[in-house]
Amino acid sequence: MFDRQKKGERAILVLPHARGGGDAERRAAEFAELVKSAGAEILGSVTARVEAPNPRFYVGSGKADEVAEMVRALDADLVLVDHLLSPVQERNLEKHLSARVVDRAGLILDIFAQRARSHEGKLEVELAQLKHLATRLVRGWTHLDAQRGGAIGNRGPGETQLETDRRLLAERVKQLTKRLEKVQTQRGQQRRARLRNTVPRVALVGYTNAGKSTLFNTLTAGAVYAADQLFATLDPTVRRLDDLACGPAVIADTVGFIRELPHDLVAAFRGTLAEARDADVLLHVSDAADEEREPLRRVVDQVLEEIGAGDVPQLRVFNKIDLMEGDVGMQPRIDRDAEGRPQAVWLSAATGAGIDLLRQALGELLGGERVQSELRLPLTAGRLHARLKAVGAIAAEQVDEHGWRLRIDAPRSVIAPLNGGSAAETELLRALLVAPVPDSAPLC
Ligand code: GTP
Repeated sequence: MFDRQKKGERAILVLPHARGGGDAERRAAEFAELVKSAGAEILGSVTARVEAPNPRFYVGSGKADEVAEMVRALDADLVLVDHLLSPVQERNLEKHLSARVVDRAGLILDIFAQRARSHEGKLEVELAQLKHLATRLVRGWTHLDAQRGGAIGNRGPGETQLETDRRLLAERVKQLTKRLEKVQTQRGQQRRARLRNTVPRVALVGYTNAGKSTLFNTLTAGAVYAADQLFATLDPTVRRLDDLACGPAVIADTVGFIRELPHDLVAAFRGTLAEARDADVLLHVSDAADEEREPLRRVVDQVLEEIGAGDVPQLRVFNKIDLMEGDVGMQPRIDRDAEGRPQAVWLSAATGAGIDLLRQALGELLGGERVQSELRLPLTAGRLHARLKAVGAIAAEQVDEHGWRLRIDAPRSVIAPLNGGSAAETELLRALLVAPVPDSAPLC
């Protein structure tokens, strides 16, 4: 028994799907990842077609029998269902299967409980767990052998909470809410202090496993926990970001997003994702090698909307280009919009390829959008020279028999609308807008 507990719980997965639920395979793989993140050993899985949920078990009773048989045959302790169950369905299933049953919300909460690092994150998770538990507590857990209890779904508030009556639970929820409010006020004050310092803020967001923590580490050369486990980061970890052309900035890593987040968890996310809401730029990290990357991007954008960060400018980061198939030797690059503004950077956080381009793009975006560059103009480009001079974009200049050597320093918004005059001048102007920012330039 003890050996088994040490090795983790022995779980069977139940994967419900509806007709036409096209991405069933991916969902199954993702759920399995979640389960492994929670530390359980997967003994087997059962798919269940659910058209009209059975009020008693959620899955059909024939399927429930099949799972019960599997639990017996494989000696499993735990059944994890990739769907939200009502408290009644969970209880009925537990009785029927003689094993503990945890639904998708319970599983995600469990992982959050393990990963929460800051005081605030822990409080948020405990609160969400208690609220989840409150609906289930009335039944008591006496129908299960307490020794079989295991860890998943029980971490956080702990066993004692399971024995606590509703009154105590309500008191605890009240107490936690109060504490959380206090922590959040303090955090808000810290954030405002940072705003007053006007240090630009960057936040990493992205679907779970896109590589945010890896990128965070590579960018800050520090040591944040990055592992191939979902939700490796629960609380935003904030670090200073140096070596940008615009001067120092702060960067925050945030928890990985996931589809069908239980509603309570979106609320819990609000606090941990405050960093995203307050950022000047979001680095929206995607796994470039994942063919699902666009649907996943929409999931992330939707959660960002929900937490009020929908309007924060984004720089997309296509990570893991080292894994891209059919694109052997894919080179890092910056994609720009028509005005030359960086829109996306293709890189590999693991190999470090393209990190310099990301720094450059960030420097441009955060540096008040200034264009600072050396520009050589031939004497034939007199009109362009006159226009740049007219808008005050020339910081210094020299002229010789070949033409002008200019040091340009002006907001992008001033330079971008200029007309070149001739085609050659227009090309020079475009080149100026996409020119790399020189390392030594004191931008901010
Ligand atoms: P969550 O915390 O779950 O949201 O994950 P995350 O987005 O922070 O991802 P993490 O940095 O933990 O990376 C997930 C996995 O992808 C790890 O196994 C990394 O080693 C791997 N990974 C990250 N970046 C790259 C990359 O550029 N190339 C390759 N090949 N693997 C990468």
